[in-house]
Amino acid sequence: MADPQNTIVSLEGVGRVYGTHIKTRVLTDINISIQRGEFAAIVGPSGSGKSTLLNLIGALDKPTEGTVRIGGNTLQGLDDDGLASLRRKFVGFIFQFHYLLPDFSALENVVMPYAIVNGTPTSEQMKQGKNLLDRVGLKDKMKNRTTDLSGGEQQRVAIARALAGSKPLVLADEPTGNLDTENGNEIFGLMRQFNKDENITFLLVTHDPRLAAFTDRIISIVDGRVAGDNIVSKPA
Ligand SMILES: Nc1ncnc2c1ncn2[C@@H]1O[C@H](COP(=O)(O)OP(=O)(O)OP(=O)(O)O)[C@@H](O)[C@H]1O
Ligand SMILES: [Mg+2]
Repeated sequence: MADPQNTIVSLEGVGRVYGTHIKTRVLTDINISIQRGEFAAIVGPSGSGKSTLLNLIGALDKPTEGTVRIGGNTLQGLDDDGLASLRRKFVGFIFQFHYLLPDFSALENVVMPYAIVNGTPTSEQMKQGKNLLDRVGLKDKMKNRTTDLSGGEQQRVAIARALAGSKPLVLADEPTGNLDTENGNEIFGLMRQFNKDENITFLLVTHDPRLAAFTDRIISIVDGRVAGDNIVSKPA
């Protein structure tokens, strides 16, 4: 049984329909509970609704039916500011394409979320940003402009940025989809490390069955419904 104290995200009877005149149903009756510290994969065919689901879990979008709770807060009734403040507190995002700001350094990109809230990051926040970049292996490249970094390095910056502000939940939509196998493995390994070391919850959408098999839980979405939700058995 899921322990409600330890639940970071829960979805009950969640549906999502796009459009007002022409309606497209994308998600139907989704029931998922994610505990703190989980490291889970979301898999499924293209167009099955994985990104739509991740957007709901990350408070980027609201459901048309059902209840989404993040850290005990229900999305229903929140306006855009309310959703944004929930995201700031709980959720870091990593995407297939890193969306780093090209004219800024790696470090500036990582502390940018603070700058948006406070104007300028505090020295404590700068310290945290440097520490995160150090931990993703970019100690010597903090001052480099992100356009001068390799694809794998850019994705490392994106991981550090997602974790800045001590977010307990990181949502990653195809984080290795644009990388070769070696860099993909390293990015995956880094996320796993943060999960183990700091109990950070990760939910990753991946098309790669090999990577999914290295997570602890595989949630499979087909035609907008949960078609499978299985704990991955580990070799003894
Ligand atoms: N804003 C939108 N308006 C209308 N339809 C949308 C919108 N966003 C997504 N859809 C539709 O919802 C369905 C699910 O899209 P979604 O992006 O969630 O799929 P996905 O599983 O992430 O696919 P992929 O693996 O290709 O990224 C698709 O049919 C898509 O066309
Ligand atoms: Mg998608």
